[in-house]
Amino acid sequence: MKTDTGRDLQRDHAGRLRHLLTLEGLARDEIVQLLDLAQFYVREPGDLPARDGALLGRTVANLFFEPSTRTRVSFELAATRLGADVVNLDLHSSSRVKGETVLDTIYTLQAMMVDVFVMRDSEPGLPAFVAGHVQPHVSVLNAGEAHVSHPTQGLLDVLTIRQRKGDLQNLCVAIVGDISHSRVARSTATALQTLGVGELRFVSPASLAPEADEFPGAKRCASLEDGIRGADVIMALRIQKERMDQSQIPDVDAFLKEWGITERSILHANKGAIVLHPGPMNRGVEITSAIADGPASAVQQQVRNGVAVRMAVLATIVRNVQVRNVQAGRREV
Ligand code: CP
Repeated sequence: MKTDTGRDLQRDHAGRLRHLLTLEGLARDEIVQLLDLAQFYVREPGDLPARDGALLGRTVANLFFEPSTRTRVSFELAATRLGADVVNLDLHSSSRVKGETVLDTIYTLQAMMVDVFVMRDSEPGLPAFVAGHVQPHVSVLNAGEAHVSHPTQGLLDVLTIRQRKGDLQNLCVAIVGDISHSRVARSTATALQTLGVGELRFVSPASLAPEADEFPGAKRCASLEDGIRGADVIMALRIQKERMDQSQIPDVDAFLKEWGITERSILHANKGAIVLHPGPMNRGVEITSAIADGPASAVQQQVRNGVAVRMAVLATIVRNVQVRNVQAGRREV
């Protein structure tokens, strides 16, 4: 992601990550380092959650202009467990309803010493726009941008695959369903290709396929059976009705029969294949409950990894800003 001067907008002048707007342009080693740090923060069910003081004295603001359960709560938990103060702006009772612009809202919170903005929006471009206007010590993290990008989801997906299946170079991953409207598919595919996945497949009806020029090297499959035959990982996607006009919304029963991840369709995949879904799930549409709650499902592991990944991203970004502050002689807390 470049500015009009060609500088990578999500990096500082020394090339360190200052914002996380997209996984595009991240090197393999940078992704591996984030995954390794996330793994350090992962805890098993029943254990106490990981905590450290990496964000002590910092303030994180969650600004979600689209609904969210997993991402918003996991960013809040991640920031809290790293010692930050956290603000969740209630947009229905904020001054936005009185016509305040997003930038004025950002400037207002920045004046209250918010250090990190976590943002979700239904329109493309808001995280980068805000990143171009905040003070040099302030960071912006993209928590879901229209159909374009959801970088922390991409990271938690590849972390989950790595934990369950090991080296990605030996794996065939099939992303199935409503790919055209999916920011998750784009970020996860970017992470998979950067990490050198063995084979990446997009499996969907033509109406929900990604653009022809997206993800060179990925295989396109126009039937579910072809798409998941021999797959080690199947990622089912939510039908995103909120991004479709009425004519695009598929018939639920027909979609489940032709494209649903079910006990029958999964038989085409490799033995031991796992099933991911970013949530929220439309049970009985793109996935059945027998699969979502069954032994192949990695859905709850994805959610658990979401907190660890967001801790790793927050800790990395804030550490990078601290390094720059120290080098610039700025006063730290
Ligand atoms: N996967 C995901 O982004 O879920 P939420 O919409 O609940 O945040």
